Amino acid sequence: MTTAELLVNPLREGLSANRVPAPCSLVIYGASGDLTSRKLVPALFNLYRKHLLPTSFSLIGVSRSPISDDQFKQRLKEMLKQEDPELTDSLWNSFSQNFHYLAGAYDDPKAYQSLSILLDQKDQNNGTAGNRVFYLSTPPNVFEDIISNLGTSGLAKEAKGYSRIVIEKPFGHDLDSAKELNQKVQEVFKEHQIYRIDHYLGKETVQNLLVMRFANSIFEPIWNRENVDHVQITAAEELGVGSRAGYYESSGVLRDMFQNHLFQVMCMVGMEPPVAFEANAIRDEKLKILQSIRPFTPETVSQFAVRGQYGPGFLAGQKVPGYREEKDVKPQSTTPTYAALKVFLDTWRWHGVPFLLRSAKRLPKRSTEVAIQFKEPPNLLFKDNVSHLSPNVLVIRIQPDEGMTLKFETKVPGMTTEARTVNMDFRYGTSFAEDAPEAYERLLLDCMLGDATLFIRGDEAEAAWKALMPVITHWETTQPETSFPNYEAGSWGPAEADKLLEKPWRQWRRL
Ligand code: BG6
Repeated sequence: MTTAELLVNPLREGLSANRVPAPCSLVIYGASGDLTSRKLVPALFNLYRKHLLPTSFSLIGVSRSPISDDQFKQRLKEMLKQEDPELTDSLWNSFSQNFHYLAGAYDDPKAYQSLSILLDQKDQNNGTAGNRVFYLSTPPNVFEDIISNLGTSGLAKEAKGYSRIVIEKPFGHDLDSAKELNQKVQEVFKEHQIYRIDHYLGKETVQNLLVMRFANSIFEPIWNRENVDHVQITAAEELGVGSRAGYYESSGVLRDMFQNHLFQVMCMVGMEPPVAFEANAIRDEKLKILQSIRPFTPETVSQFAVRGQYGPGFLAGQKVPGYREEKDVKPQSTTPTYAALKVFLDTWRWHGVPFLLRSAKRLPKRSTEVAIQFKEPPNLLFKDNVSHLSPNVLVIRIQPDEGMTLKFETKVPGMTTEARTVNMDFRYGTSFAEDAPEAYERLLLDCMLGDATLFIRGDEAEAAWKALMPVITHWETTQPETSFPNYEAGSWGPAEADKLLEKPWRQWRRL
């Protein structure tokens, strides 16, 4: 599609002008890590190309590796070139002209003094106006050192401009450590300065859950226990644990995907309409959903939770190793790479409606979606002449092939009254003729703009841990019901997950 065609796309007419943040400096801790080169810098680059970076902007990478500014920039440039082979030197040079690197230990006060001097210089020479974002993209064991040193060095104070801190996941390892981290960060920063990231909230389609629900009048009247049989939320990944076993062995799928991403998506599906489209109003409603999760007990964990771990198998025709054969995984590891949970939200709207959540690595394909399955019609008028009726399902595809499908029954043309399921489809790519921005683009931009709507509040993080801890604790203190590995890489997970379905008309969706 050409630019001219894009401009006449009627769905883009009248869209509001872009929001450009005020001048600022972004300090990334853990700058030599993967996230910086794979996600953060490409996201900043896209913002730059869309003219969404502040006119005065500087990036300061901090980490322990003793490298120079030039080496730092060269690494980033090479990574970016892999994504975008057309990147020219002149574009890169203008984008990266105010990039710097500072080597230092995270617990060394001198490193913070040097940073403070550099930031002041940037304010004076590049007009970054005393606005600072500190982005923690390090392993969580150094979060506290960085936070307390930002405090003692005075960098957390909002003296000339703003000072914000972005904290990457994992936010704590369990409820106690999340509380402790909240306390530590709140001793130094006020809640309005704290941005806890969950990159799922930056996904266009996750945000669309709110627009879809609250900008239309047809969904809300049926969005409740009267009409919905159950909700399925799936985050399926093809990838295995890769090189991240060091982290994953002590995390597992519940901490990695449920405490944050899946629970946040569930909140967006389940929450009540907020009183305003504003950060705290939305987060208040999400919090209520997390607090409404019916507490798991050791008995209900056995009934309502299923765990799995992948063994060797085939994906896309390639043989892939089992989890226990991956680098840095213990040979007898019982870390779950698959989990399915049946969650009940004890609210007026959802009482009795199961939310079936599942996520795993090494499933046959990458696909994240929400499926709302509706109840069958009250009176089956066609039961004598229609051989099979399927329930209505509204599928919201979060990724890939972002969009929505409504499945409904329709008469097959002909002299008999037969019915078949057909789809009503909306596809982002087709309707808007443009790819959605990457999650990190939106989140970095929002943080620079001071909009915390798509970030997690401290009480939400704790409520999510509180709900999940009984399952985590039970699994960590008991042996798996079926010995691991219990699903083959490239399959849809352990057969035991079917026990969560209960009713014959409930089936795990084949994606
Ligand atoms: C991360 C998890 O938060 O999300 C990873 O740590 C997972 O294990 C990833 O692969 C999935 O994100 P996405 O955007 O690819 O669905």
